[in-house]
Amino acid sequence: MPNTAERQAPPKDSAETRASDLLSEMSLSEKIGQMCQVNCNSHDLHQQIRAGEVGSVLNEVDLDAVNELQRVAVEESRLGIPLLIGRDVIHGFKTIFPIPLGQAASWNPDLIRHGARIAALEASTHGVNWTFAPMIDITRDPRWGRIAESLGEDPYLCSQLGVAMVQGFQGEQLAAPGSIAACAKHFAGYGAVEGGLDYNTANIPENELRNVYLQPFKAAAEAGVMTFMSAFNDLNGVPTSGNEFLTKQVLRGEWRFQGFVVSDWDSIHQLSVHGFTAGDKEAAFEAANAGVDMEMASRTYANHLAELLHEGRLSEQDIDSMAYNIVLAKVRLGLFENPYTTPSHFPALLNDEHLQAARETARQSCVLLKNEHQTLPLSAEHLSSLAVIGPLADDPYEQLGTWVFDGESADSQTCLQAIEAQVGDSVAVHWAPGLESSRHRDHHGFEHAVQAARDSDAVVMVLGEESILSGEAHCRADIDLPGAQEHLIEAIAATGKPIVLVIMAGRPLTLSNIIDKVDAILYAWHPGTMGGPAIADLLFGLESPSGKLPVTFPRVVGQIPIYYARKNTGRPPSHESITHIDDIDGKAAQTSLGMSAFYLDAGFTPQFPFGYGLSYSHFEYSDIAVSAEHAALGEDIEISATLYNAGGCEAVEVVQLYVRDLVGNVTRPVRELKGFTRVRLGAGEHQRVSFTLRSEDLAFHNRKMELVTEAGQFHAWIGGNSDAELWTHFELHDNGAGV
Ligand code: BGC
Repeated sequence: MPNTAERQAPPKDSAETRASDLLSEMSLSEKIGQMCQVNCNSHDLHQQIRAGEVGSVLNEVDLDAVNELQRVAVEESRLGIPLLIGRDVIHGFKTIFPIPLGQAASWNPDLIRHGARIAALEASTHGVNWTFAPMIDITRDPRWGRIAESLGEDPYLCSQLGVAMVQGFQGEQLAAPGSIAACAKHFAGYGAVEGGLDYNTANIPENELRNVYLQPFKAAAEAGVMTFMSAFNDLNGVPTSGNEFLTKQVLRGEWRFQGFVVSDWDSIHQLSVHGFTAGDKEAAFEAANAGVDMEMASRTYANHLAELLHEGRLSEQDIDSMAYNIVLAKVRLGLFENPYTTPSHFPALLNDEHLQAARETARQSCVLLKNEHQTLPLSAEHLSSLAVIGPLADDPYEQLGTWVFDGESADSQTCLQAIEAQVGDSVAVHWAPGLESSRHRDHHGFEHAVQAARDSDAVVMVLGEESILSGEAHCRADIDLPGAQEHLIEAIAATGKPIVLVIMAGRPLTLSNIIDKVDAILYAWHPGTMGGPAIADLLFGLESPSGKLPVTFPRVVGQIPIYYARKNTGRPPSHESITHIDDIDGKAAQTSLGMSAFYLDAGFTPQFPFGYGLSYSHFEYSDIAVSAEHAALGEDIEISATLYNAGGCEAVEVVQLYVRDLVGNVTRPVRELKGFTRVRLGAGEHQRVSFTLRSEDLAFHNRKMELVTEAGQFHAWIGGNSDAELWTHFELHDNGAGV
């Protein structure tokens, strides 16, 4: 077995030359072979590789098997082209970090970059050189199971964090050991599937598509992500795996993307299931014509590209450019120099540094939603007993969340374990699951749980969703706590003991039925391997929670879609303009109810707004200032405010900047996030926080789809969530110089 020395990438020009030289030696079938990605259990895989029929294998992570696949490719295929080994390394490999939606709640790109770096190092140890992450689909629908994999509802936040993930996976040097290719997915509009139903249709007007859904993809392309993945969904009548507009016009034409595009699993074959093509041959034509370079799983390219070329429907140049894009990626990754993996060149899996990083990420991901009577933090000194209740309190598997192929529950540390370790012998811990799982409806465990609560000074309930309730194809129409968990809360609340509710879930849940029955809520998402210790650190005040919601929490499912960056409408609601269904007077006249955009039974505000999250301290904002109330287009504007830690302990606040463009060629959202920063302050400390806004930051696509910043009036807010009240304004005027 050859040794893995430093992978040296040739300089850019030589990489391209090398890929072109190789291409000139390739037969048609070898070119098409590069465009085929097959699963590791594919029949006669070695023979396929030997014959040059495979460009990439997915899901093989047994190191000896991977090295053997590479050996066959390098030593036994005619041109010796190494393989891309793809795997869904979504939030860690062995050391599992919080689900991406949880990581997004940290609003901390550095932390997220570091987590992706660790995931890349661990995955590399097993020969993986390509991950299908980050998923940067904007989604505003918590029913959609894949919201768990997303970075939330906001294009700016998602862009910043998505780019951080790309940088973490790909490292500083693509060809260095431990760098793996990232994949921006799913291109595009997958997060906007109707009704939050996976695989469903998405209809997104081009303007909205460009201003919201494409933004993170553009950012990833600019950050040098090596690959893109098309999606399963139909977008405006054209399924994305055969969508020329997306892949050819926007991605390659406008954004000048130089990497390659892979389809989603079977999604080229599915073009016919959508009713877009009549059979695999037409599907292969549409996908190739759109610029999808590699086919995942289905065999339409293998079976039909040559025929399409001979018929003159695809040109030799079409085929060449697809094969070239793939081979170039392999050159850039240094695979020709170092196709094999030697684990001793990498840090140990699950080493202490990795575990501590996962713990820190989980700590920063937790969002404190409620904390009445300062129930939290708990003090081990003032408690003599504590009940720990709930099916997720001691379940090492469920806390890992969706898309965990390689992480193992044996490596997880649960809440119960961590709480027991934290309090030592001084506090008696009474543990009762209450329910067999989050879905169970049987109350037989309630009695024991109620007794545990009665015997204790306070209660920590760990409830939520098992991991299988979110992720691909795992959508829910009702997003309350599933099973009999609400009843369990009622039963425990009846004891009168203070209740801290820790929620582990893959999505925002609707909490209105139980929110008043508990004293504190810590939203932990699915926190990963180190979820238990991270949660215990927060519960006992070793650190104050600092997470902020990356997605709006609805009160009831009927409010969906609900997101902060909505349009104003012609009849915006206000607290004064709305009526509740229970307050309608007898035979009230239609107009007396308030003619504005609200629900009679759910108002217009969410349960918790985007950006929201409490800490054990209390922050105040004041003295907002703008560097120039009037500026020319093209000039930077600085907006600042004073942040004051008015509470009793050191804590981190995520300071957020929102802007509204008052009048636009197309209507603009009532607020858009334009900046954020994490600030740590001791009790009584204050700090000036400032953001620089460039004119480009205010750009949007107008009715002609031009990217423009328009002159006019703007409002700006600085605060701790998207309902921030401290505001100022400025005006941009057009001096003719343009932006
Ligand atoms: C998912 C992708 C994933 C692929 C490979 C598909 O079902 O949609 O996100 O990367 O499978 O596992």
